[in-house]
Amino acid sequence: MRLFFALWPDAALRGRIADVAAALPLAATMRTVPWQNYHVTLVFIGEVASAELAALRQLGTRQRVAASEIRFDAYEYWESAQAVVAVAQRTPDALSELANGLGRSKLADPTLRLHVTLARKVAQAPVLQAMSPFNWNASSFSLIRSDTSRTHSVYTVVDTWPLLDKRQKSWQSL
Ligand code: 2AM
Repeated sequence: MRLFFALWPDAALRGRIADVAAALPLAATMRTVPWQNYHVTLVFIGEVASAELAALRQLGTRQRVAASEIRFDAYEYWESAQAVVAVAQRTPDALSELANGLGRSKLADPTLRLHVTLARKVAQAPVLQAMSPFNWNASSFSLIRSDTSRTHSVYTVVDTWPLLDKRQKSWQSL
């Protein structure tokens, strides 16, 4: 199975992201991401045997990181991925810590750029206007299974863990 750790939005936030995606200049060849697929990848795990699932769940359970507010404030075109994304110019420290705890540091590129992919297969850089910013109150994270056998990936939430509120976090450090 193909897995990744991600921030998973609620219905209201999906609607907000859909508004931001709808404001993009659309090219005929571009494939917009269906609203039910919006997410922020924290760590892409890739293909794993089902026997490894228990260890990944334990890894999720071990994380102790504070809930954080993310401000997504710009469109970007990522040429190598041929994608248009909504990015957060600033990554809250707690979420860098979370991505590292989930294994991000093993990747060649340790830089975490929080983003929501809005459109794929964008072959040419579009002219992107200013984005109407939105806030994402990240209070949990999830392990997601991805089925890529269809035109659009189908994602299933395998497990979800809460992030700590600030008070829990300060109790822990006493
Ligand atoms: P994205 O978050 O930039 O859209 C599930 O496939 C998610 O993991 C996708 O949303 C995708 O990128 C990300 N992803 C897919 N393949 C990846 C890879 N090889 N390395 C890093 N991230 C990947």
